[in-house]
Order: sequence, then C-alpha cells, then structure tokens
Amino acid sequence: MNSEKKLLILVGSPRREGNSAALARSVQQGAESAGTEVELLFLDDYITSFLRDCRSCRKESGECSIEDRFRELFFEKFLPAEGVVIASPVYWYGLSAQAKAFFDRTFCYYAASYPEAERVVAAMTRKRIGLVMASEETYPGASLGMVHQIQEYSRYTHSEFVGYVRGVGNSRNEVTRDPSDPLVAAENLGREMFVRRFSDYRIDTDRSSKVWPSVRDPEQG
Ligand SMILES: Cc1cc2nc3c(=O)[nH]c(=O)nc-3n(C[C@H](O)[C@H](O)[C@H](O)COP(=O)(O)O)c2cc1C
Repeated sequence: MNSEKKLLILVGSPRREGNSAALARSVQQGAESAGTEVELLFLDDYITSFLRDCRSCRKESGECSIEDRFRELFFEKFLPAEGVVIASPVYWYGLSAQAKAFFDRTFCYYAASYPEAERVVAAMTRKRIGLVMASEETYPGASLGMVHQIQEYSRYTHSEFVGYVRGVGNSRNEVTRDPSDPLVAAENLGREMFVRRFSDYRIDTDRSSKVWPSVRDPEQG
C-alpha cells in the first residue's frame, strides 16, 4: 500500500472524454488499487495564460499577477505530490500547449526573483514522474519529442521518470480500441508509480550484475 503517497495526474487535453483522459483515468484506477491517494485534474481548469515577462508582471509582493488558478494548482496540488503523471495528446509532435504552459509557468515561482524560490525548488525536486500520451499516428517517432522533454524535466529536477505509455486513437475514447492495450499499461503504470524499478547509472555506479532478484530454485530451498 502507498497510502502515504500522493499522485497528481494532470490532463493536457481540452477533451474531457478524450483519449488522454481515458489513459489518465486508467492510471488513476491503477494507483487507487495500490492504495495511493490520487487526484486527476484538467490543466485548462487552472491555466488560461502563457508565461509572461516576470519583470513586468510580477507584483511587488513577488507573486505572479496572472489571474487564473495556476498558483492554486502549483502550490496546493503539484508541490505536495510525491508523484505526477502528465497525460497529454500529441500535438504537433510535442506536448499540448496546456501541458507545456504548466511547465513554463512554474518558472515564475522557482526563479530567484520569487521570495520563496528556495522552498519551491526543494519541493519541485525528487518526485516520481510518469507520462501517458495519445496520438493519431502510430510510428514511434511521433511521441519521442514528448518523452524526451519529460525525461529532461525529470533529470533537471532530480526526479525519476518511471515510465510512459502511448495510446493510439483520434476520435474521443478511441484509444480503448488500440490493440496494444494502452489502458492496461496505463493502469500498471499507476499501480507501480511508487514501486517500479528506476535506474539511471553512471560508469562508476556501484551495482550488482543482476537487475532482478533471482527466482529461488525450489530444490535448493
Ligand atoms: C492541434 C492538434 C495537433 C495534432 N498533432 C498530432 C501529431 O503531430 N501527431 C499525431 O499523431 N496526432 C496529432 N493530433 C491528433 C491527436 O493526438 C489525437 O487525436 C489524440 O487522440 C487526441 O487526444 P485527446 O483525445 O486526449 O484530445 C493532433 C490533434 C490536434 C487537435
């Protein structure tokens, strides 16, 4: 059970019954089955603007003056979560603008000009990160840019990019008919968010030559 862990799922599609949402709900089901506390939110309920020039739009208090719910999302949902899954459609071979704007807008609060930047940076780091994506095209390259971006975000924030799932579909909920069963993979990702093995070695990392514990030979006891 992971009852002490919180997982936040951020959906970057405007379609409430779309493919990213279907994948996100499967992640949610898997996480809940592992006893994880989960919240699934649609980014466009919170973000209605791109990042602006902080020099001209930051208030004297240091707060961002953009009037939407990003601050609430970032401080009350994102920072306290130990795990975050981004669910985004492939738009132009990358994240949707909603999902990208989320990452861009974090700048306002981790930039040194924000009075509590140090506390924000500490809370942004060392999360477990997952990605689920919906695309119309099937070839692997269509979603690699997104995988790369989330990998770099994870590296930059000392987070662990636990895994990703791509489901193929175009019309709403069509991903349920993808024969590769991305909903099952998404559910597994949710269930394993806090326990799936993660490794990212360096040449001098101390490690065993085996990755998985060996199955015990019943004759050896
Ligand atoms: C603006 C826009 C750009 C898109 N670009 C791509 C693309 O580059 N490659 C692709 O495979 N599908 C692309 N699609 C199709 C979506 O990825 C696909 O319909 C997906 O299932 C939508 O997810 P949703 O149901 O969560 O909104 C695009 C769709 C839109 C609306």
